[in-house]
Amino acid sequence: MKGPLVCRRRGPLAGTVEVPGDKSISHRSLLFGALARGETRVAGLLDAEDVHSTRKAVEALGAKVRTEGSEVVVTPPERLREPGDVIDCGNSGTSLRLLTGVLSGVPGLSVLTGDASLRRRPVRRVIDPLRRMGASLSARDGDRLPPVVIRGGPLRGVRHELPVASAQVKSACLLAGLFAEGETTVVEPERSRDHTERMLRGMGVPVRVDGLSVTLGPSALTGTRVDVPGDISSAAFFLCAAAALPGSRVTVRNLGVNETRTGLLEVLAAMGARVTRAGEREIAGELRADVTVEAAELRAGEIAGALVPRLIDEIPVFMVMATQARGRTVIRDAKELRVKESDRLAVMGEALARAGARIELFDDGCAIEGPTQLRGVSVETRLDHRIAMSMAIAQLLAGGQEVVLDDVSCVATSFPSFFGLLDGLCGGGAR
Ligand code: S3P
Repeated sequence: MKGPLVCRRRGPLAGTVEVPGDKSISHRSLLFGALARGETRVAGLLDAEDVHSTRKAVEALGAKVRTEGSEVVVTPPERLREPGDVIDCGNSGTSLRLLTGVLSGVPGLSVLTGDASLRRRPVRRVIDPLRRMGASLSARDGDRLPPVVIRGGPLRGVRHELPVASAQVKSACLLAGLFAEGETTVVEPERSRDHTERMLRGMGVPVRVDGLSVTLGPSALTGTRVDVPGDISSAAFFLCAAAALPGSRVTVRNLGVNETRTGLLEVLAAMGARVTRAGEREIAGELRADVTVEAAELRAGEIAGALVPRLIDEIPVFMVMATQARGRTVIRDAKELRVKESDRLAVMGEALARAGARIELFDDGCAIEGPTQLRGVSVETRLDHRIAMSMAIAQLLAGGQEVVLDDVSCVATSFPSFFGLLDGLCGGGAR
């Protein structure tokens, strides 16, 4: 779907859906598969632009990626080769940050770039720690912004103390550590998603986790089978809508519920929504379950501290939902939102305020006073998929009025079937 879109749906939301595969796990399965010995077979890979960017990147490094029935198979090259051209990561920060770590250890010159949104996102956070490992890197605007130029070479393991919890930075350092001499340790201030640690272990790498620190040494990876669960960051749009729209009940089947990702489910329950899990099971190192959220009178909630990295990508749609909760919902310690695909605090704050929300912005979060009946609004989506989808959910709370999104092509970066699934749930009935 390209260009502008007028949203005019009505709730409540009812039904059962599956959402597409987890984006973080999908990126890693292609990239780690390209580093391994032997094939990696991936079921449930997310078919969306961000993952296509990683696929094209690993192909440029010599891996072969083919589709076989419902699976995607990665055949690694004998060794990764210098890419013949600039690698375009599109809108995908995860592709760019993780590849920066890998390419630091691959002999040759690599250049990573991306779209206008990605070229505004900080890269010093990966450049600084990788330089401490001996990597040779530079970037635009005093090493702040992509494109990133990498001259791969010998690396040494070091201990990193990250100033912010970031799975992308942690993963970049650990991936470089696979090529380094000696051990690499990453210590985070709070725990971020641990898909890298889990998948590397599944591929035979001894990874030691001790509290907030993760350590590995130079290791070979063995190809494996990955079964990608549904992405909780995509499901969040339906789950938050179901919590806020009276009479709603939505089940998302086969949803990834790795505990480093389930902060949203905890806050929803704390705010009074009915949240249940069924059929919990672990496949290929990742927990999944069928998750149901039912609407209820919501009370104000709080997000801060260690919870933030466990729901960072869900905060835009959480802000929409919070407009319907009674009292003052406060979000703190979420400055990272300002350096996502857009400045999500500023963009959501402005869009929701224009839709009638009572919202106060802070440097690291916001306070939202509810409940408020929202109204129709026109929104600039700013190349940010989660702004587009969050404001499509806000329309359901706008008493039948329209929300106009100026450009919804960004939704294809993570969730191409979003509007279709939303239509199905708004049609009601058990699907
Ligand atoms: C991701 C980590 C998070 C998240 C992003 C995906 C990952 O970013 O926001 O959507 O797959 O590692 P940060 O590492 O910058 O927090």
